[in-house]
Amino acid sequence: MAKSTVAWDVSFGYRNNTAINLWSYVPPDPNMGPASPNVDFWKIGKNIVGGTENDWLGYEFDVPTLSNFKSFPFVDVVDGNLPAITPMDVGIHEHKDPDGTIWAGFNAYSSVGNVMHLYQGLYTVDTQGVRKVAGLYDYGQFDFKYCGKNGQYNGDPKLLPGYIHSITATNNYIIIPVTSLLTNPCMTTVKSNDTITRGTFAYSQFFDNVPLRFLIFNKKYKYWVTKTPLEAPSAMFVTHQLNAYEINEYNIVADMISYPNADVYSKYLYRDFLTTQLYPNAASITRFNLLLQQNKTVTSVLTPQPTLSVEFPQMNNAYRTRYYAWSYVVENPYSAGNSILKINVNDASGKQNLEYKAGSTVALNEPVFIAKPNSSAEDDGVLIIRGLDVGSEKALLVVVDAKTMTEIGRANVPILIPFGFHNKFFATDSL
Ligand SMILES: [Fe+2]
Repeated sequence: MAKSTVAWDVSFGYRNNTAINLWSYVPPDPNMGPASPNVDFWKIGKNIVGGTENDWLGYEFDVPTLSNFKSFPFVDVVDGNLPAITPMDVGIHEHKDPDGTIWAGFNAYSSVGNVMHLYQGLYTVDTQGVRKVAGLYDYGQFDFKYCGKNGQYNGDPKLLPGYIHSITATNNYIIIPVTSLLTNPCMTTVKSNDTITRGTFAYSQFFDNVPLRFLIFNKKYKYWVTKTPLEAPSAMFVTHQLNAYEINEYNIVADMISYPNADVYSKYLYRDFLTTQLYPNAASITRFNLLLQQNKTVTSVLTPQPTLSVEFPQMNNAYRTRYYAWSYVVENPYSAGNSILKINVNDASGKQNLEYKAGSTVALNEPVFIAKPNSSAEDDGVLIIRGLDVGSEKALLVVVDAKTMTEIGRANVPILIPFGFHNKFFATDSL
């Protein structure tokens, strides 16, 4: 499997260009895009849309039968005052406003004659599926004269946008963490006749000398608060968000899963974590204090250990954009006998943290928090957790009391459901 290739465009793996060319003679099905829709799910109005990280993001489907996948018909409203851009990739991890509006981040470029610009931005999707760019940050003109023979970029790397996996939000702001995995257009100048080539990430490169950066956008007045990106102390990769909130207008708290490099995306295979090794102990649950007046970022780690083997943070969504205490993460993702860790983000001693395990043969996935009706405490609810029993090779669904992290019950599923990445819960009466 490690040497396998596929006949379609991929982000992280290897593709077989001979096979892609053969398939290009087959007329495409207009309803089927070329990307896997199993990364995460959005709710647009009453539709559930399976998402990819490509600019053709989105397949709607019939929820009760899990069938009839077809491209979701976004309605794009183009602002004539903005440059004509071509998206390169979009973030599948959205922020959702109480009125149902979705916010998401993207990377894009424009090319007019020999002049190329690189951008990052935010777009919104309303409950009718109307999609429009809310803000566009211009990194400036990209000049190919700074490209070396082998695709290296010799210009200022801070003029390159970085990969975005997720965004976060407070009451007033949307925050884009711009990772140090930068888009390097010079790598497109290296022509290859190889049959097997790397996917889209072949054009990305981790720059140790470019810190994690933040672009901050004022939601209400629609402008970039950061004229140039705010910088973290070091190069980092960020996958997922715990939460963010404002202490005041100029002091933002944003908690994220961070890594010192992008290996989690460019090197890791989750098959290995199930069979031969644990997910590396390389993630930090990091609090970024974004101090807008001082143009400064202060970081701290929210657990007693500086790094952990954790991913997929979830929380009581009623507390998003607000002060909060509890996050639920998967410890040792993809491994049998792993656990869900309940973390008090305001007590780095770890003394209030609790752990739930489903058994030595069960690999637990991302937990979803559901509040009890009329609950008042933040952790008064249950976690619904999908699992895979590697002994019976069947899936299961576990319900855990989020306050005590003890199991309430489990339902065994008669089939094997392979891993995806993310899980979402939608109440039936909202569909
Ligand atoms: Fe993700």
